[in-house]
Amino acid sequence: MRFVVTGANRGIGLEFVKQLTERGDEVDAAARDPDDAADLRALALPGVRLRIHRLDVVDDASVRGLAEALPAGPVDVLVNNAGVSGVKGGEPIDPEDILRVFDVNAVGTLRVVRALLPRLRAGKTRKIVNLTSHLGSIADASGGRYAYRLSKAALNMATRLLAEDLRGEGFLTVALHPGWVQTRMGGSAAPVPPEQSIRGMLRIVDGLKAEQSGRVFDFQGRELPW
Ligand SMILES: NC(=O)c1ccc[n+]([C@@H]2O[C@H](COP(=O)([O-])OP(=O)(O)OC[C@H]3O[C@@H](n4cnc5c(N)ncnc54)[C@H](OP(=O)(O)O)[C@@H]3O)[C@@H](O)[C@H]2O)c1
Repeated sequence: MRFVVTGANRGIGLEFVKQLTERGDEVDAAARDPDDAADLRALALPGVRLRIHRLDVVDDASVRGLAEALPAGPVDVLVNNAGVSGVKGGEPIDPEDILRVFDVNAVGTLRVVRALLPRLRAGKTRKIVNLTSHLGSIADASGGRYAYRLSKAALNMATRLLAEDLRGEGFLTVALHPGWVQTRMGGSAAPVPPEQSIRGMLRIVDGLKAEQSGRVFDFQGRELPW
């Protein structure tokens, strides 16, 4: 299988690349600054099918550039992982922060989907995986974190729209909550190590069925409310 993973230089994205390449999958990994992605470059050992690309999801030209830089052939699975959390503990309603986070987490994901659709259509697997958060659930919202919550709620809607619009072409589109994971975003108090989170998410991605498309699951396979 050939995967594209965004935000691949650290955290959850890096662990996706690690586990995928270890099991022999082919990976096009995208990072904002490949020159400053030592942990990612360290995975590119001889015999490993890993290519590293430059990508900033808020920059249209950069996103088009990724689509052009990918070597010929179909992409099987797109993992939209790149994301930001926004200012924590600041002014609760900060319009600039809301727009910035929205641009990365919601609009950025759709930029990448739009640019890579022809490559996904060229294959038969046609899976789109969006990294969401339980904090984007409207049913479970407990207040605060406006920028992050709004952006992930929008990403969930984008997941649903893509699932409906592309279902007829055999696409499977899903939003996954990775758990509270030990990364720079999750912090060291997070209970879930990246290895466990990604192992769980890959199990879901590998076994994705048509009836799951357009829905939200956590890394343990539990469905989350909108
Ligand atoms: N960790 C958690 O507990 C948790 C929980 C729920 C959901 N998530 C979601 O899981 C995903 C990964 O999170 P993480 O914990 O691995 O976070 P992280 O450690 O902060 O990593 C975020 C990644 O996204 C990249 N990124 C940020 N802005 C970007 C942009 N404009 N263009 C391209 N890449 C960009 C970062 O690149 P740079 O290094 O260049 O900044 C980095 O590679 C996110 O979507 C996050 O919302 C995480």
